[in-house]
Amino acid sequence: MTHLILPGLVDGHTHLRVPGGEQKEDFTTGTAAALAGGLTAILAMPNTTPPLATVQILAETRQKAQQSIYCDVGFFAGASPAHLDQLPYLANDTVALKIYLNDTFGLLRIEKLLSLMTCFEKWPRSKMIAMHAEGTSVAVGIGLAAAYQRPVHFCHISRKEEVELIAIAKKQGLAVTCEVTPHHLFLTEADAMRLGALGDMRPKLASPTDVEALWSHLDSTIDCIATDHAPHTLAEKQSPNPPPGVPGLETSLPLMLTAVKEKRLTLDRLIELMSTNPRRIFKLTVQPNTQVEVDTESPHTLSNDHLYTKCGWTPFAGMTVTAQVRRVILRGAVVFDDGHPNKILARPGSGQLL
Ligand code: DOR
Ligand code: ZN
Ligand code: ZN
Repeated sequence: MTHLILPGLVDGHTHLRVPGGEQKEDFTTGTAAALAGGLTAILAMPNTTPPLATVQILAETRQKAQQSIYCDVGFFAGASPAHLDQLPYLANDTVALKIYLNDTFGLLRIEKLLSLMTCFEKWPRSKMIAMHAEGTSVAVGIGLAAAYQRPVHFCHISRKEEVELIAIAKKQGLAVTCEVTPHHLFLTEADAMRLGALGDMRPKLASPTDVEALWSHLDSTIDCIATDHAPHTLAEKQSPNPPPGVPGLETSLPLMLTAVKEKRLTLDRLIELMSTNPRRIFKLTVQPNTQVEVDTESPHTLSNDHLYTKCGWTPFAGMTVTAQVRRVILRGAVVFDDGHPNKILARPGSGQLL
């Protein structure tokens, strides 16, 4: 057995589904899944029902979270055309603003240029603006970063031309950053065919050429691995109109460490992608006395059994990984122990709001 000790890892892109989607995930199950995946801090997305786009909904949601979270949780504010006046106040209790430029799950969308400009004018410069931008929308985001001379973070980049354009923008000195998901690194459009609705998400799975481009930019252009953990129930996925999205909190680190073993990236780079860089981009302080202990020689097949996510399935079922999270220590307390009958040892509410 080879024991590896990692710093507390961060997922900068998690959907926790509170309020309104608690049948898919809640603060208890989502943060338990995070710890089981070696993640000690996660950032929750605002496309809930209703969305985290008003001060009142945000305050109620943070209050619910504080009672039940097992790991640290920060929130994104959602940009909604009807509530742009609230942006400066939402900023007080969120880590960043999320703007959706393309169609995906939920109703949050910014379509008008004037609304986009309002976002950039009203959101404090000290906080990040993150975007769901696909295809030409990436160019829109880069244009706004240039025009307003401020940082923009691109979520779940999945196509060759997108990552290449971001590389060009970075070379020009623009403060743009981006993340990729494990599903866009480990699955392709062929898997989407095989998996049906369980392999459908936004952005959709891409071609082998796109996937190769993401891997080749992992050492340079790409700043973070983020899960885009987007749980939906099996019943919803098997319905006539299945929602897009796949879970990923519990599989991200085992998959990425397997890639390290296969020498597709170094361990140092993995730590940058999953801890140092997301902390820098979203201005999250290091959690003291916090570490993740992993057995890197524990080959096993990923499956739908024994997951903490409420949705109870993974698109990676059947894939073999070599790493297993053994223990997680957060602020000096053992919060996850694979060898303990209860495994999750944290007290509900012991996670901190970021
Ligand atoms: O597939 C996706 N699902 N992409 C998104 O952008 C949203 C997410 C969700 O919330 O289910
Ligand atoms: Zn998205
Ligand atoms: Zn997302």
